[in-house]
Amino acid sequence: MALQPHGGRLVSRFSGSSLDGMAAIEVSNDLRSDIENIADGVFSPLEGFVGKEDFESIVKTGRLKSGLAWTVPIVLDVDEQTAAKAKAAGEVALAAAGEKFATLKIDEVYFIDKLQSAKLIYGTDDAKHPGVAKTAAMKDRLLGGKIQVSKKIAQSPLRKYRKTPAETRAEMAQRGWKTTVGFQTRNVPHVAHEMLQKAALNLYDGLFVNPLIGKKKQGDFKDEVILSAYETLIDNYYPKDRAMFVTLHTEMRYAGPKEAIHHAIMRKNFGCTHFIVGRDHAGVGTYYHPFAAHEIFKGYADLEIQPVFFPAFYYCKKCLSYANERNCPHGPEVREELSGTKMRRMVSSGEIPAEHLMRPEIAKLIVSFKEPFVP
Ligand code: ADX
Repeated sequence: MALQPHGGRLVSRFSGSSLDGMAAIEVSNDLRSDIENIADGVFSPLEGFVGKEDFESIVKTGRLKSGLAWTVPIVLDVDEQTAAKAKAAGEVALAAAGEKFATLKIDEVYFIDKLQSAKLIYGTDDAKHPGVAKTAAMKDRLLGGKIQVSKKIAQSPLRKYRKTPAETRAEMAQRGWKTTVGFQTRNVPHVAHEMLQKAALNLYDGLFVNPLIGKKKQGDFKDEVILSAYETLIDNYYPKDRAMFVTLHTEMRYAGPKEAIHHAIMRKNFGCTHFIVGRDHAGVGTYYHPFAAHEIFKGYADLEIQPVFFPAFYYCKKCLSYANERNCPHGPEVREELSGTKMRRMVSSGEIPAEHLMRPEIAKLIVSFKEPFVP
């Protein structure tokens, strides 16, 4: 049985009302994606942008003020003048690329200590960290309040596999899965990724392959490359009746352990009962201990979705298989490390990863892209 959504019910915030004549605040396409995530329950129980009390509670305790687990604040930042106008109006339209698509009822205008908040969320205030840089560049006021979406984002090749939590839950029920394990990724698949998913598939009824499509840092793989690579992998190597392929449209935040909790909550809303957390989940550089994302779950026994922890998988030339320190006695001299960073490094230097690191169909596909990385 699927778990209840986070907070007990799937949020749904859509309205048919006209936005004509309303003053609008322009947001980025990335934020528009997150607003649609609020509207169709990917971010349940959030119904809009968090207010000050929730914001402070999230960054300081990793929970909403109600006590419910939540680690990444979803906010709308504006300049002082826009904030004052919005407050006076009480309700504004939200627009992206000039198209009005939603309304926001203004409950609150507030400001935060950006550096302190960044440090609490990302565990560092180093301006080189992409999340810290993003927080530092935020405008000075935040608007808290509930949203309602009137116009959904248009269909496009990148959104072909997007589904709402209501749809994924219905599909899991129809497939008869009692347990479903979710897999987050921001990379093209290397063979260790595949082995983690298949090891989990030994234990649970279904696998929910859920790459993150959305803003990523420079040097990460582009969305279209990740999408094509997963289509190819699933086509060639996954049992169709045991794997569901759905994309998640949000930003990578590189918040390591805190983002692992956020990732688990979204997959709970999609209907997963379990969630894979491996080495350096949602990490960047060396900001987080490779297993910090395992540790943090100790403080979240109430999360309901169960983390499935994996140690670092490598290829062992003696075992002739993918192994890890729990099941392989051989030393580093016979190990070949597998990581997204290593794959990106190999591809960008023109090297084609060997078959035991990356499936040949995937390697071939990646090199067919002229510029596979985020510029
Ligand atoms: S992430 O930023 O989305 O976490 P990535 O797409 O590389 O990055 O990882 C997806 C999942 O696979 C994460 O749970 C990560 O911890 C795990 N993972 C990636 N490589 C390995 C590996 N070699 N061994 C164990 N887990 C791994």
